[in-house]
Amino acid sequence: MTIFPKTLMILGSGELGKELTIAAQRIGCMVIACDKYNGAPAMQVADLGIVLDMNNAIELQNVIRKYRPDAVIPEIEALAVEALKEIEQEGFKVIPTARATAITMNRDQIRNLASEKLGIKTANFAYASNKEELEKVSEKIKYPLLVKPVMSSSGKGQSLVKAKDSLSKAWELAMQQARGKSTKVIVEELLNFDLEITLLTIKQANGETLFCPPIGHVQKDGDYQCSWQPQNLPSKQIEEMKSIAKMITDDLGGEGLFGVEFFIRKEEVIFSELSPRPHDTGLVTLISQNLSEFELHLRAILGLPIPEITCAHPSASKVILSTGEINNVSYTGLEKALRIKNTQILFFGKPNGKDGRRMGVALSKGTNLQEAKNKADKAASSIEVFEKEPN
Ligand SMILES: Nc1ncnc2c1ncn2[C@@H]1O[C@H](COP(=O)(O)OP(=O)(O)OP(=O)(O)O)[C@@H](O)[C@H]1O
Ligand SMILES: [Mg+2]
Repeated sequence: MTIFPKTLMILGSGELGKELTIAAQRIGCMVIACDKYNGAPAMQVADLGIVLDMNNAIELQNVIRKYRPDAVIPEIEALAVEALKEIEQEGFKVIPTARATAITMNRDQIRNLASEKLGIKTANFAYASNKEELEKVSEKIKYPLLVKPVMSSSGKGQSLVKAKDSLSKAWELAMQQARGKSTKVIVEELLNFDLEITLLTIKQANGETLFCPPIGHVQKDGDYQCSWQPQNLPSKQIEEMKSIAKMITDDLGGEGLFGVEFFIRKEEVIFSELSPRPHDTGLVTLISQNLSEFELHLRAILGLPIPEITCAHPSASKVILSTGEINNVSYTGLEKALRIKNTQILFFGKPNGKDGRRMGVALSKGTNLQEAKNKADKAASSIEVFEKEPN
């Protein structure tokens, strides 16, 4: 019999870490939330908040060794992943595995694993390490195409290139906005897809791999705008997504929830990438499912049972964004938003906003998907985020 509670260390204290912290505390766990600034969302609810540079291997290893958590749970990509490998070798549990955090942080590594090792269908792609190579491979991929730094997230450093004369600018943007020192880019054909899907996949230590009903979503400039669940799809496509997600997560190993991203183009299922952790588009599960993606992640990490996953009502989420720089964050419109039935507003409590920063989310349930989406849209647009003048 395992003895609870456990001590969990969450690396990254954003809105996803905050929900994970709340779920962990509900089952009595002690949570240590880490981030680069004080007062980050998860720190506001954690037992302990630690400010550190998580890209600094020594700093990261020092806090893990000092507090000796039962599990180290990465919530963000930008981490000293090599340090996590050593930590794992010392006997600490890294979720899902140190190798998975390293592979998924690099677009080339996850793409090589999916496409070359496992033979999974992806967009046509090639790599380039300088401008000349970029020109050469772009001729093969054909325009329009996307240029992405191998290490970046939320669409940073990505360009849509329609013709050869824009390649140089795309290269420079990728180099400016890439995370880390790599000078490699991935060039991808631009897919004209019908739908984007996140398939939340739960890998358990002592149980079969489970899947949540598909989540549909819309992205703009690399950031999600709205998501909904369940997205109906032919069972053949759902089965294909499940089998791809199982193949990749089996290879990555460990336990926990993964957000596996796909494009649907007519009958085709095309793998995009995955997060070895709860996915932002999965915030909708806070209202749609009997167990949210955060509760599922925790249960998988802690080896607790997951008897069933249900999504009883079509539901939707819509993001609430900051427009411009805001230092003293205030908002209005909660009365109007909450008058909408079966609707919740989550405000993440970020201390400041910048243009396009996600500050909160509206969640709605409906009798059908369209109704849920309309309600979430209306609720999100009722909220105004602004700078409060000092008294
Ligand atoms: N080959 C492609 N064809 C068409 N659209 C694409 C392609 N690759 C990416 N996109 C669009 O750009 C979005 C972001 O791309 P991707 O997921 O690769 O980047 P990211 O920076 O890792 O984003 P995030 O970290 O938010 O998941 C996708 O969700 C999709 O909308
Ligand atoms: Mg993505």
